[in-house]
Amino acid sequence: MTIIVTGGAGFIGSNFIFYLKKNHPDYRVVAFDALTYAGNRMTLMPLDGCEGFRFVCGDICDPYAVDRLLNEEKPDAIVNFAAESHVDRSIDTPDVFVKTNILGTATLLDACLKHGIARFHQISTDEVYGDLPLDSSTLFTEDTPLRASSPYSASKASADLLVQAYYRTYGLPVTISRSGNNYGAYQFPEKLIPLMIVKALKGETLPVYGDGKNVRDWLYVEDHCRAIDLILHHGTPGEIYNVGAHQEIRNIDLVRMLCQILAIDEARITFVADRKGHDLRYALDAAKLTAQLGWKPKTMFDTGLQKTVDWYLRHRSWWDAILTGAYRTAYEGG
Ligand code: NAD
Ligand code: DAU
Repeated sequence: MTIIVTGGAGFIGSNFIFYLKKNHPDYRVVAFDALTYAGNRMTLMPLDGCEGFRFVCGDICDPYAVDRLLNEEKPDAIVNFAAESHVDRSIDTPDVFVKTNILGTATLLDACLKHGIARFHQISTDEVYGDLPLDSSTLFTEDTPLRASSPYSASKASADLLVQAYYRTYGLPVTISRSGNNYGAYQFPEKLIPLMIVKALKGETLPVYGDGKNVRDWLYVEDHCRAIDLILHHGTPGEIYNVGAHQEIRNIDLVRMLCQILAIDEARITFVADRKGHDLRYALDAAKLTAQLGWKPKTMFDTGLQKTVDWYLRHRSWWDAILTGAYRTAYEGG
């Protein structure tokens, strides 16, 4: 089986490639990534030269590059992780989110139709459902209406609608998964957990937005990868699957946990201006995925957070290269 993983040099995409190579060693896996600021070619270097792995530098918005790739590889499936993924950046520069997340997805869908690809899987997010009140126990289900808040989530919701439209109109065999906040190894240090770890280790203050009471539903990245693998192989075309671990934590409590793990004085926590349009709470109901495909999370938050901190402590050179910018020039040419 040949699988193209778009956005494979990013956080979840690279974890998914490592997962595939470990669990399906006979598969051919092709990473297709534009290497934006978030793409890190160094992450995938351990696979260079391994049989059944190829890296291609390319843009999902470029129909010629995508067409060439599909002609060369004749893949059985495409898993689309490629996206602009950071909410704060979407507030400052929404245009690139519209381009990559919507037009890029449309380009991939057209290419899948043209080449008769047997499965297109779209990696989506719980943010397409908007947010939930802080003092409720309501969960997002797959039937919750889309109510995006940020340019990022609106672009992801638009992409989901396109994916569903290609299923209904053209019968393209698609699936969509919507997960909560991922954490684990190789996450770019702009997202809450790696940002706080890196700032803590550098002796800086820890900026918490607003009053820190916003809640996120955390998912260990390897549990997410296992869910995508299951959906890819056993999911029903046309279906959407929520992927959540019921690990709801307030931001301030999470940052305090990190202070404790890293033996950092909580006085380093600084409350800063809130994010515009800041979503209050996310919480996912993943009952469908459990009932239909037998998926359950294996890693609870305490364990996953400790593993993540350990990883950042052991891989300082990985994030130092990002802070200095050296990761951009470490591998020229793709
Ligand atoms: P990331 O920002 O770490 O990685 C994105 C990758 O996409 C990068 O390698 C980047 O170079 C690549 N990319 C960007 N634009 C591209 C383009 N035009 N063509 C080809 N490649 C391009 O993101 P992530 O956190 O790994 O998220 C991956 C996917 O999962 C995204 O679609 C995101 O919306 C979704 N998601 C993320 C989370 C999370 O918590 N991180 C949760 C739910 C869903
Ligand atoms: O829920 C899934 C989404 O999770 C994904 O679709 C996105 O791609 C991913 O970036 C993430 O979005 P969030 O906005 O929830 O993640 P972020 O790490 O940016 O922020 C998590 C929470 O922490 C959020 O409430 C904002 C807050 N925060 C974030 C940063 C960067 C802070 O308080 N301080 C910070 O410095």
